[in-house]
Amino acid sequence: MSQESVSGPSIHLDEFFSEFHAGSLRLRNRFAMAPMTRAKSPGGIPNTENIEYYRAHAAGGVGLIVTEGTYVRGPAAGPTSEVPRFYGEDSAAGWRAVVEAVHAEGAAIVPQLWHTGVSRGDKPDFETDTPSVSPSGVDHTGSRVGRALTSGDLDTLIGSYVESALLAKQLGFDGAELHGAHGYLLDQFFWTATNHRTDEYGGTSAQRAAFPARVVAAIREAVGPDFTIIFRYSQWKGADYTARIADTPGDLEALLAPLVEAGVDVFHTSLRRHWQTEFTDHADDLSLAGWTKKITGLPVITVGSVGVDSVFRGDRIDETQAQRFGLLQQQFERGEFDVVALGRALLADPEWVNKMRAGQLSEITPFR
Ligand SMILES: Cc1cc2nc3c(=O)[nH]c(=O)nc-3n(C[C@H](O)[C@H](O)[C@H](O)COP(=O)(O)O)c2cc1C
Repeated sequence: MSQESVSGPSIHLDEFFSEFHAGSLRLRNRFAMAPMTRAKSPGGIPNTENIEYYRAHAAGGVGLIVTEGTYVRGPAAGPTSEVPRFYGEDSAAGWRAVVEAVHAEGAAIVPQLWHTGVSRGDKPDFETDTPSVSPSGVDHTGSRVGRALTSGDLDTLIGSYVESALLAKQLGFDGAELHGAHGYLLDQFFWTATNHRTDEYGGTSAQRAAFPARVVAAIREAVGPDFTIIFRYSQWKGADYTARIADTPGDLEALLAPLVEAGVDVFHTSLRRHWQTEFTDHADDLSLAGWTKKITGLPVITVGSVGVDSVFRGDRIDETQAQRFGLLQQQFERGEFDVVALGRALLADPEWVNKMRAGQLSEITPFR
């Protein structure tokens, strides 16, 4: 696909330059920067390079920045000490500077709170003496890794998430996003391949959602009614792009209902192709974002190959960018989502949104 087809006359996306409000989140437009891990924060502390990275993306016109995944206190939240932490005074000072820089450029920002669980890998350089923890102490193939979370661990973890969410509020962030996608800790509860528990946190869809919902409820109680909680989830996993946690709209409803009940304000459905119909044997040809909005009635952020020519960690896409912008516009008009996130397109060109607004599509630096 050529850049010429991106700059064709049919691309407008004017409707995406309207404001969006949900609780404490007030966005100047409908474009978000997707969370993207960088591991460029030695010691887990956001530094001047990190501040400038986020400031530049805010200046590039996005309404919302979801930060790279940031570790909660743990235990054993992730593999590397270069991922920024979202706890401790040293990290908090760095994040305060990030928030101020982003707000000064007119964008909103939320941290993505992350625990990798069993996906931590076998050579961590962070908390090296602490074993990996996960719902059942097994990876998706059934191999034993680390240990299963005890009920005491679960209470500790809830405390860790609450600590980070409260810090986000105290530092002036516009909300907080929970990383419940891609096969990481919270998603390991949703996914039957990694959740073999026989207590109240394993079994039916509702039971598999019970621990993530407890985390949300505890955060909600701590931060109060207005601070926006975004919950990111996905069908696909980093270890298996074909994985599914919901085969039918009914399954999806059973998974999402406890999260809604617990206090989620906005869902962020992580898709690799935003235009893909989710349940192909169903009359409604909605994407996962559309289904999430239909089932929950809550605002939804979509994502997945906007402004790029290949799927995230996958193949080239047949449809042109122009065709897909058309589909994105149709999905928006049909009310399938409220905000669209871009990942790789913004890595290639932080000014993507400003250029789109100005109609300077041929000026956009493409992602390769
Ligand atoms: C370098 C890189 C790092 C990523 N890190 C994260 C992350 O920390 N948390 C997360 O939820 N998704 C992460 N993702 C997935 C993106 O948020 C996004 O869903 C994905 O790139 C698809 O969007 P795109 O097609 O616009 O790039 C990452 C993607 C990239 C390219």
